[in-house]
Amino acid sequence: MENDVLKVFRTRRCIRKFKKDPVSKETIEKIIDCARLAPTAVNVQPWEFVAITSPEKRKEVADITQHGKFIADAPCCIAVFCKDTKYYLEDGSAATENILLAAKALGVGSCWVAGDKKEYTESIRKLLNVPEGYKLISLIPLGYTEETPSPKKRSLSEVLHWENW
Ligand SMILES: Cc1cc2nc3c(=O)[nH]c(=O)nc-3n(C[C@H](O)[C@H](O)[C@H](O)COP(=O)(O)O)c2cc1C
Repeated sequence: MENDVLKVFRTRRCIRKFKKDPVSKETIEKIIDCARLAPTAVNVQPWEFVAITSPEKRKEVADITQHGKFIADAPCCIAVFCKDTKYYLEDGSAATENILLAAKALGVGSCWVAGDKKEYTESIRKLLNVPEGYKLISLIPLGYTEETPSPKKRSLSEVLHWENW
């Protein structure tokens, strides 16, 4: 029988359609508790997490993004920020992945919405009252899923090279 953790990895997909049911504060705290345990270069832990449950605020966030309009319809959105340290992007990405996987393990759907390379990062930072010097890593809508997307992934034999490429 497949280990539960591996099943979470295999079955996680980005979810963009959510039911209206709220995600409890306790569940959100469990998810962020996993995020803060992510690996981080020199154990700097540069991350901060903003949980946005207000529909008005989520709509404002959604409107600023290019490909994250569905954030408005999720009951919660986590904004992941990192202090501008040497490995902020790697650290913040590891924390983001922990959020996606912890959410899946708790039966909550999520999607990684960029993020660091977008021109709207400063607008989101200001909207959420985040101090200067913090970088937006990701926006992660959370909610109970209203869709079951199938995986579109490259196969193991295509991506795994033994000894040499
Ligand atoms: C850095 C990054 C940025 C992403 N940005 C967006 C985004 O702006 N909007 C969106 O709908 N999905 C976004 N995604 C999700 C990808 O589209 C998704 O992970 C990919 O299609 C693979 O699907 P899966 O996560 O279901 O396996 C992003 C993913 C990553 C890693």
